[in-house]
Amino acid sequence: MKFEIILLVALNIALGQCFLFNKANGKWNDLKVTWGINPFNSKNFQSLPRTEAEAVSLGWTKEKNCSQVNGNRYIFNNDNAVLLIFDVRGIIAGIATSIPKGLPFNYPSNKIQPLFNDEGEFYTLSAYFIEPSSVCSGQVARQLTGDRLIIKGNQKELRVPMEQQNLSGFWTQGKCFYTMGLHVWADIEGNQIDENTPEENFSPIFLLYNSGKLNGFGFAFNADLPSKRFEHPDKNVLNMFFRRTPLFYKDANKTGKLSTLHIYLDKTPRLNFC
Ligand SMILES: *[C@@H]1O[C@H](CO)[C@@H](O)[C@H](O)[C@H]1NC(C)=O
Ligand SMILES: *[C@@H]1O[C@H](CO)[C@@H](O)[C@H](O)[C@H]1NC(C)=O
Ligand SMILES: *[C@@H]1O[C@H](CO)[C@@H](O)[C@H](O)[C@H]1NC(C)=O
Repeated sequence: MKFEIILLVALNIALGQCFLFNKANGKWNDLKVTWGINPFNSKNFQSLPRTEAEAVSLGWTKEKNCSQVNGNRYIFNNDNAVLLIFDVRGIIAGIATSIPKGLPFNYPSNKIQPLFNDEGEFYTLSAYFIEPSSVCSGQVARQLTGDRLIIKGNQKELRVPMEQQNLSGFWTQGKCFYTMGLHVWADIEGNQIDENTPEENFSPIFLLYNSGKLNGFGFAFNADLPSKRFEHPDKNVLNMFFRRTPLFYKDANKTGKLSTLHIYLDKTPRLNFC
């Protein structure tokens, strides 16, 4: 664990030294998941298919369709850490994660459950890159990957500002981490995240801004989920992502191993220098 922390710190210092790049035009031209240090591990920063045809050709299978959920959803190797949501024309419309019911610490709490869809066996957290209402009606002509970020559950919707300067007080700005971005967090009741944030209020969504623009986001679950897609940040490095780290992360009665997923919307996440 110590070794990983030293690597993280070293990586941030090293990358800071060669801070010469500018992010390209800010267009969302990719969809990658999972942060990792090792550049040779193909699971890190892996690009996902953005058309249904490509998904099928790569072995993804249809999990649910527009008659059951908001989109035609695809799954790979039965791993519901990453579900791809395609619109009726077969173009990427969003991404989702399903987590099992009955997790420790009553996760997800009653307070954050409205952000999820209750799908019987699972709670599903869905992020859309187009208007959720157009996913199954397909009336909107558009380019890959989409141009907005909307988290929509059974009873709650979060519309995310494309520009950092437009963040409302609902969001709490955290810290910059190179190869990720400026992290932005949320308390589901709109309070600023600080030491006293209750675990049940902690939103499972975070945002990533680089050069002031949203080019990524992520899911953060207070749960130990098995998929290799997930990252499992050590509790000792959380202060690299928060300005004021919630204390519940030190309470073994409220939290265990964490599972996070960084989701990148452009081709060059390694050049994310905030
Ligand atoms: C959608 O899924 C349902 C249930 O599996 C199935 O009965 C239906 O034929 C599917 N529709 C399409 C268009 O694939
Ligand atoms: C974002 O903030 C800028 C500066 O305050 C403002 O001019 C712009 O209209 C805002 N954009 C949106 C979409 O609210
Ligand atoms: C967890 O809760 C038990 C029972 O309430 C208590 O005895 C214990 O000290 C708590 N542990 C921590 C780390 O707070």
